[in-house]
Amino acid sequence: MNKAFIKTIKKGFTTQFNAIPTLIFSPGRINIIGEHTDYNDGFVFPAAVNKGIITAIHKSESNSSFAYAIDKNELLEFSLNDIKPLPKGTWQNYVIGVVAEMQKKGITIGNFNIAFGGNIPAGAGMSSSAALENSVVFGLNEIFKLSLSKEDMIFISQNAEHNYAGVKCGIMDQYASMFGIKNNALLLDCRTIQAKPFEIDFKDYELILINTNVKHNLSDSAYNNRRSICEKIVKLLKVKALRDVSEDDLKLIAHKISVEDFEKAHYIIQENNRVLLASDAILKGDLKTLGKLLYASHNGLQNKFKVSCDELDFLVEQAKLNPHILGARMMGGGFGGCTINLISKSATAAFKTHISKVYKNKFNINCSIYTVSLSNGTHVIK
Ligand code: GLA
Repeated sequence: MNKAFIKTIKKGFTTQFNAIPTLIFSPGRINIIGEHTDYNDGFVFPAAVNKGIITAIHKSESNSSFAYAIDKNELLEFSLNDIKPLPKGTWQNYVIGVVAEMQKKGITIGNFNIAFGGNIPAGAGMSSSAALENSVVFGLNEIFKLSLSKEDMIFISQNAEHNYAGVKCGIMDQYASMFGIKNNALLLDCRTIQAKPFEIDFKDYELILINTNVKHNLSDSAYNNRRSICEKIVKLLKVKALRDVSEDDLKLIAHKISVEDFEKAHYIIQENNRVLLASDAILKGDLKTLGKLLYASHNGLQNKFKVSCDELDFLVEQAKLNPHILGARMMGGGFGGCTINLISKSATAAFKTHISKVYKNKFNINCSIYTVSLSNGTHVIK
């Protein structure tokens, strides 16, 4: 981990609170394939990365608690006895949301001071919010010796996202951030919450992320809308989740739903299947098949589930024109953020130059390009 980054956070904390904190690293994530399948009890294939949030935390004797966002230089004072969601879109909700969700579970904590900062680009769709939530619950578990399991903790984080950030997310982001394994991606079954690690070494190929640097408004409400459409269809079919539905099952109720809703549910069934095919392809080292699945995933997200945007589509179209790229797709919830691209290492430099130029010409904004390494999940920094 970046030593300068750790030092900055530690210094930010001590300057503000004058104490020696416990330090937690909580990573962001990528997702190889399996988008919007998590809240349908399906499969996803994420990995924790070496970009994330560092949180410094310490018990306090004062009558209130303080949270300090070092990058924004914003301080929040709050009372543990009176926690309510603040207006949407603020980092504060992730912190107090975790505290409130712990309290709802009957967990008692004392006052504390917390400071954090991160190096996950904002709006990149790499789950900086899950990383922050996980770091808060993990840190509180450490300093108050609560003996929560990692599984307890990810559900607290997820509830904070639902009830304080207002996004009815699945469990992928919190899971990947908490349970990540260095050099591995995790084939996660979101029904059983059990994952199988896959060591990722694509030999002459690598995964690169291209950030559109846009996040379109209403992405949260569109996300919740997609989830409720899936739930509506599940009700009609009298099953537990779309995970349990085949294409034939869906066809049986086609006359009861709109064509658009049919397409959305159809996407989920197909995407869930693609995750399993992708894990087979990785096991066999068949990167061509993996690449095709990535393109198919994007096609479904763009045309059937309809959570892409012009910027993402453009990046994927450009990838398709390059014979050294085996596959690409939008990553995360959609409406902005990054594409993930499977590219020959020898072609990365030239593609970066090309894509930066054509993207700027088209949208008059710069894209950003990242390579990431796969990292361990949330842990104490020793
Ligand atoms: C967001 C959510 C996840 C998941 C993805 C889409 O990242 O937080 O739970 O649904 O979108 O796959």
